[in-house]
Amino acid sequence: MEADKQAYTLTNNRTQTSITLPERRPVQGDPAVDISRLYREASLLTFDPGFMSTASCESKITFIDGDAGILEYRGYPIEQLAQHGNFVETAYLLLYGELPSVSELTDFTDIITHHTMLNKSLYNFFEGFHHDAHPMAIMVGVVGSLSAFYHDSLDIKNPRHRDISAHRLIAKMPTIAAACYKHNIGQPSIFPRNDLSYCANLLHMMFATPCEDYEPDPLAVEALDTLFILHADHEQNASTSTVRLAGSSQANPFACIAAGIASLWGPAHGGANEAVLNMLEEIGDPAQLDRFIAKAKDRQDHFRLMGFGHRVYKNYDPRAAIVRELCKKVLAKLGDHNNPLFELAQRLEDIALQDDYFIERKLYPNVDFYSGIIYEALGIPKNMFTVMFAIARTVGWVSHWTEMMNDPQQRIGRPRQLYTGYARRQYQPLTER
Ligand code: CMC
Repeated sequence: MEADKQAYTLTNNRTQTSITLPERRPVQGDPAVDISRLYREASLLTFDPGFMSTASCESKITFIDGDAGILEYRGYPIEQLAQHGNFVETAYLLLYGELPSVSELTDFTDIITHHTMLNKSLYNFFEGFHHDAHPMAIMVGVVGSLSAFYHDSLDIKNPRHRDISAHRLIAKMPTIAAACYKHNIGQPSIFPRNDLSYCANLLHMMFATPCEDYEPDPLAVEALDTLFILHADHEQNASTSTVRLAGSSQANPFACIAAGIASLWGPAHGGANEAVLNMLEEIGDPAQLDRFIAKAKDRQDHFRLMGFGHRVYKNYDPRAAIVRELCKKVLAKLGDHNNPLFELAQRLEDIALQDDYFIERKLYPNVDFYSGIIYEALGIPKNMFTVMFAIARTVGWVSHWTEMMNDPQQRIGRPRQLYTGYARRQYQPLTER
């Protein structure tokens, strides 16, 4: 971080107290006014619903330039990581700050591979859910329950314990995700196989059965790996901020990640990939596109174009550009050249990008717009799309949680409010109301 160069003076007109607030300069991106002393020294709060103008922490993990459409993990452009890297290598990069050497990657892969099994009694949790429970509902519960199993790594002040918990979470998420799916379709869970890569193992646990083995298709493995790289982190989004806020009270990492999964589930966040497919199926016919565009623009109508718009990107989401090309590649390799949902999605994008409403508001396709079409082409059901996102984002969540726990400035996250309720009033006995 560069030395502070600017300062801003703010006066509380009520108390006539003035305070000089320093500017904090990041390595890249917009500067921030450091208001941390504002309340203590000038009795003033700031008001920022939805955190439109708030940098909640310092972080060295991910950089986004929303105007230019740039995303970097630890300084590496997302395009380069997606083209040349793999998901486990990206996980190491996010967690430890540097790309691994050959031996570091071998060791890390080995550790992750050897933490994929679940405690046998954890499988009883799945049985407690109704067969048609949404896999995200199961996942929130099961991941939260991990803290009841791993007492040996719950000392959050111990860096070794933090590391083991991070490994356990990254390794066990595919096993939990696949077990959620198997419970949903009424098949027995399949154990992980240590000879398979991270994504091949996930596909194996989802699609093999006790009576029939399954050979993961290299195309599906590669596509999933790329999608997981793209979803691995995205700085202080809602779920990551949830993980940080939960962790700030010194809650254990399993509980924090469960909170992150719950936040991710919402359709404004990670639940959008499932919502996009539902929307495309509802539109169905290209002749209906204009009607749905009109609905999206109508303020009286709650309908929004799912997979469109982003709080930070006011340009094409760089992940969406990669997913769109990946979608073309996957469908071509599968011989599905005229996939109707992909055709419809591209037509929708073309119309929206030429429409003044979307142009003025700088609304572009985001990462979720095309990802569901790929998942569907790979045979992954709609209700598992957000689960796929959660597996990948676990890497970002544990990286942020670890960074926060190592941050000497870390303290409990405790926002204030602008109270707009009743002024003080007197209690009335029941009979007098
Ligand atoms: N369709 C129609 N109008 C939209 C859309 C959309 N998808 N997104 C934003 N707008 C309009 C919104 O109505 C508002 O218009 P006005 O200025 O006239 O009131 C303006 O654009 C600004 O929108 P906002 O809701 O104030 O923006 P936000 O930063 O609070 O919300 C968002 C960002 C992603 C929640 C929102 O764009 C949205 O709901 N998109 C659809 C859901 C979606 O695709 N979510 C995935 C996000 S990326 C992956 C992830 O985070 O997991």
